[in-house]
Amino acid sequence: MAKENLSAHVSSQQSLESGGIDVDSQAQPSIRRRSFLKGLGVAGATLSAGALLTSKVLAQVSGASSGSISAGDAAILRFLCAAGILETDLWQQYNELGGIQDSEVPGGSGSPLYTAALEKLDEDMPQYIHDNTEDELTHEVFINAYLASKGAATVDLDQFRTLPSSKATGAQQIGRLTNLMQLTVDTTWFTRYRSRSKNPDFGDKLPQAIPSIAVGQHPAIPRTDEDVKPDSSKPDGISDFTQAIANTAGFHFATIEQGGTSLYPMLAQRVSSVEVLRILLSIGGTEICHFQTWSDKAGNAPPLRTKDPRTGTRVVFPNLNESPLGGEDFQTNLIMPEPCPFLDRSFPTVSIIRPTRTEGAAMGAAKALTADGLFIGQSKEFFEMLATLASEADAARREC
Ligand SMILES: [Fe+2]
Ligand SMILES: [Fe+2]
Repeated sequence: MAKENLSAHVSSQQSLESGGIDVDSQAQPSIRRRSFLKGLGVAGATLSAGALLTSKVLAQVSGASSGSISAGDAAILRFLCAAGILETDLWQQYNELGGIQDSEVPGGSGSPLYTAALEKLDEDMPQYIHDNTEDELTHEVFINAYLASKGAATVDLDQFRTLPSSKATGAQQIGRLTNLMQLTVDTTWFTRYRSRSKNPDFGDKLPQAIPSIAVGQHPAIPRTDEDVKPDSSKPDGISDFTQAIANTAGFHFATIEQGGTSLYPMLAQRVSSVEVLRILLSIGGTEICHFQTWSDKAGNAPPLRTKDPRTGTRVVFPNLNESPLGGEDFQTNLIMPEPCPFLDRSFPTVSIIRPTRTEGAAMGAAKALTADGLFIGQSKEFFEMLATLASEADAARREC
């Protein structure tokens, strides 16, 4: 079995085209990788959040797990760890403004009207945002600790925390990895999980539930206090644009978590160790919990049409239960996966996670996050890092 090798050659020609970055496979990958991968010797400084907790955890794990893991398993775990770090960063921003700020998820002080607008989707939204944020933090911390316990390189993205915070009251003013203020939200998950005949693994295309946020750039958190200015013409003071921001967030939550819902089973098909498989199945299951929760809530987004006062971009949230929508593909109370074709169309349809094809899974996820607009403003080095981690994960093959 090939063991983890820090200077493993990166041979992929793939690039993060949608981010406009062409990763030069002839660049020196071992040099490039050094900056965001850390060996055990500096493990105490490797994690992005909860630094004190992290040092303690990493001190405890030396000796918690014996043996080593394959280079492929380590690469898959590192990509998932990076995805977890990026997820934590975006969820942290949501929690500061619209969640519950406490000792489990500290930082920020909330934006009352943004929070009230989120609560139109479900009164428990702040709690769910808080819990999703904490879950993602535990995913990245656990995976890095496991990698360290196996003597494998861990992931550190701190050098890329360069993007600005929201200027709205309630947000911390710190450098971020992700940008929630210029999103293009793919809402095809909504129709995909309601379709009985289509599965992207067969090349099927699904329609957008909310076409207007699937094009252009839309904030999912208030950019400044202007975005949460009270509207005296509304009984609750929530302007249509503030509600549009919250609705966009509500759909984006599910867009992110359906990505994790597919990514874990996609990559699980190529891990070698049963223990690493157990990690992927166990964490992957919580991504599914997240997705289903958000899938339920997004359908409650109040219908509206308005425009962004700053950019003039129009945004429409239709009534998904009404003609010409409605029916199985849009009906909002369908929150469990409808059965769909799987493996071969000659089999009976079955209720499943989809897509789950394993080829190019990590690069596909990296491209989808990039197309989302999450990394607008990031450096060339950031996109190179993401492409390197993705191509290494996609090069992993099951060795047993
Ligand atoms: Fe996660
Ligand atoms: Fe997630």
